[in-house]
Amino acid sequence: MQDLIDRAAHDIAAARRAVALTGAGISTESGIPPFRGPGGLWEKIDPMEVAHIDAFRRDPEKVWNLLIRGMHEVLVKSRPNMAHRGLAALEDMGRLQTVITQNVDGLHQQAGSRDVIEFHGSFAWQRCTVCERRCRTAELDLAVIPPRCECGGIFRPDCVFFGEMIPPAHLARSQQLAAGCQVMLVVGTSATVQPAAMLPLLARDAGARVIEINPEPTPLTGTVSDYLIPGPAARVVDALAAAVSALQETA
Ligand code: OAD
Repeated sequence: MQDLIDRAAHDIAAARRAVALTGAGISTESGIPPFRGPGGLWEKIDPMEVAHIDAFRRDPEKVWNLLIRGMHEVLVKSRPNMAHRGLAALEDMGRLQTVITQNVDGLHQQAGSRDVIEFHGSFAWQRCTVCERRCRTAELDLAVIPPRCECGGIFRPDCVFFGEMIPPAHLARSQQLAAGCQVMLVVGTSATVQPAAMLPLLARDAGARVIEINPEPTPLTGTVSDYLIPGPAARVVDALAAAVSALQETA
């Protein structure tokens, strides 16, 4: 595997602009379960029943009880791992411009990444479904579910539910970055949910190297990505950041 890490380090060092696209797999080593695969959240609950905007509108109490409350309990305890820190280190070295993440856990920012596009929104904030007032999730009173705003409206996480649009500014900037990078690191995503999954295709079509970091192959492997580094994100990204740093020192 070290040869693939060295290859990726050289690719990053040679790129004018590198970006990363991350998914749930980068946070599993922080104790947050993924959505798909063994132990995945969607094995236990049907996303169309609990993570679709129509389900929330129909029965917000059910969605709060089955999905949002549990997410809150897990996310509040989670801390960044070496993969989040490795990407932040690459940004500090001037080698990684932006992290585009499908995750709503805020761990990239906690690790020190400054330019983060939260493609599916953020769980750190709630928004009133009536008056649009925002409040920090950490400050929410969960004694009564669903939690309500002073105006009586129900709070919802500031995340994208299935059936909702990606915030247009996030989508446009992500597409622009994908089409303008020379390297895209695709870390811990099954690359099955659109429109995030088409960002590596945009990058590839514009001539970028697409490098996957994932213990398992994905639909991109062997078709869109140039190569897969088959391993857990924490170990691989940490080693990758060290390899890029070593190259910078010898340059
Ligand atoms: P998934 O749960 O679909 O995929 C997780 C990926 O992480 C899989 O490819 C795993 O093989 C990989 N993986 C697991 N452990 C890993 C590790 N230690 N290191 C690296 N990779 C690992 O998660 P996403 O692709 O992020 O959307 O899912 C995309 C979207 O589907 C989510 O943002 C969410 C979900 O429904 C919404 O809720 C709108």
